[in-house]
Amino acid sequence: MSKHKLIIFDTTMRDGEQSPGASMTRDEKLRIARALERMRVDVIEAGFPAASNGDFEAVRAIAGVVRDSTVAGLCRANDRDIQRGIDALKGARSWRVHTFIATSPIHMEKKLRMSPEQVLEQAKLAVRYARNACPDVEFSPEDGSRSEIDFLCRVLEAVIDEGATTINIPDTVGYAVPQQFGELIRGLRSRIPNSDKAVWSVHCHNDLGMAVANSLAAVMIGGARQIECTINGLGERAGNASLEEIVMAVRTRKDFFGVETRLDATQIVPTSRLVSQITGFTVQPNKAVVGANAFAHASGIHQDGVLKARQTYEIMTAEDVGWTTNRIVLGKLSGRNAFRQRLKEIGVELESEDAYNKAFQRFKDLADKKTEIFDEDLLALVAQEAGISSDEHWKLVTMSQASGMGERPHAAVVLKENGAEKHAESQGDGPVDATFKAIEAIAKSGADLLLYSVNAVTQGTESQGEVTVRLGRGGRIVNGVGADTDIIVASAKAYIGALNKLESKIERLNPQHQL
Ligand code: KIV
Ligand code: ZN
Repeated sequence: MSKHKLIIFDTTMRDGEQSPGASMTRDEKLRIARALERMRVDVIEAGFPAASNGDFEAVRAIAGVVRDSTVAGLCRANDRDIQRGIDALKGARSWRVHTFIATSPIHMEKKLRMSPEQVLEQAKLAVRYARNACPDVEFSPEDGSRSEIDFLCRVLEAVIDEGATTINIPDTVGYAVPQQFGELIRGLRSRIPNSDKAVWSVHCHNDLGMAVANSLAAVMIGGARQIECTINGLGERAGNASLEEIVMAVRTRKDFFGVETRLDATQIVPTSRLVSQITGFTVQPNKAVVGANAFAHASGIHQDGVLKARQTYEIMTAEDVGWTTNRIVLGKLSGRNAFRQRLKEIGVELESEDAYNKAFQRFKDLADKKTEIFDEDLLALVAQEAGISSDEHWKLVTMSQASGMGERPHAAVVLKENGAEKHAESQGDGPVDATFKAIEAIAKSGADLLLYSVNAVTQGTESQGEVTVRLGRGGRIVNGVGADTDIIVASAKAYIGALNKLESKIERLNPQHQL
């Protein structure tokens, strides 16, 4: 590996999926994996295969299709988890087992209830087991930034001896600060005699808003050559270091960082949108690189400067990261081939002929309501298509609602459950409230509505509304996303999407919360 190459390890589908409500289906994960591969991410952490059968199948499916990126799976440091990982990953052209165990005093004593010697032994056994099956093994000492340095050195030296090829230092709770974290990596590399036999990596959480800064300090000060990150900074609690910020920082400031990635940055915005649409985690407008305002020059002085010379206020261009100007791409008269061709151009590949046919039908329905169809509309449409599985429990058949000033809004909905149509009506404080109450009168889910948000997919009043609904029940949190030119219909679709996820009863383990 070139000394100057920075490996980008994406963990959107593993750590990102650990955010409450961000769980993804196998097909959704496949779409994200394809987008990451298209972006030329070096390593894609596809999931935690021992978490559930669903996660195992998703990792196996991704391992089966990705050709140009290494596919990794996270495994706790025990034979069962690692064997599950090996079984899920072994079909990949290039694969990596990522195993971890906590090494900080508080995690070892309170969570693992293990002595440091036991942790050391378990770490060695895990890496040995993984190395017997796979030449590419990554080891992470969880809560590394709060571990005692002498103990950390012993563990890391031992696992490198066992054959670990990447050593990843997690700042699990987002406690690190840049200078100190960079020096920690430098210190470990200089104190551990066999440190040059492994690639050094970091994995930073954003609890104090320093995940990106800490990761970059590890590169600059510590000599780390892999960064673990996620699209849109998704991840546990406040999230992980954001991939788009890392990639554009080292690219824009190559003069300073002196490292480069192999990423195709023009895929950043489409991938960000895809992840946001699939998970229902919207991107704040002022988010660096991928926020809607990231390249908007609102003030007169800035606009004037940009018109005279772009570089006055722009350090990178919108096109560099894949923003396309809102372009009318298709309309009512566009045919199947034009639709398919445009999907290809924006990097969307559907699983089957049937999926193309269904998506085309939805496109025609949309074109009946909306004269100008933009790329963003197509992305919203296919994201929804992929989120609808044929065995979904609840289907929206039809709905209507009436509201007016001084009148109490009223909604009527018809849902289908196992082929049988069910009808309910309700009043509510507003049309959305009335619609949700009518749906609940049928579904009786008993779930709490934790979040309701609406975004316009494109500009103007003709835009589709994209709604996210987050429901919680018995400690489980799920998100549903719906898009339509009618925001009440979009709301109903989102609510029903979330209900269907609750019905799917997939129970997943969180690798870091349970043993
Ligand atoms: O934050 C963390 O410590 C992790 C590890 C499992 C890498 O996600
Ligand atoms: Zn993490």
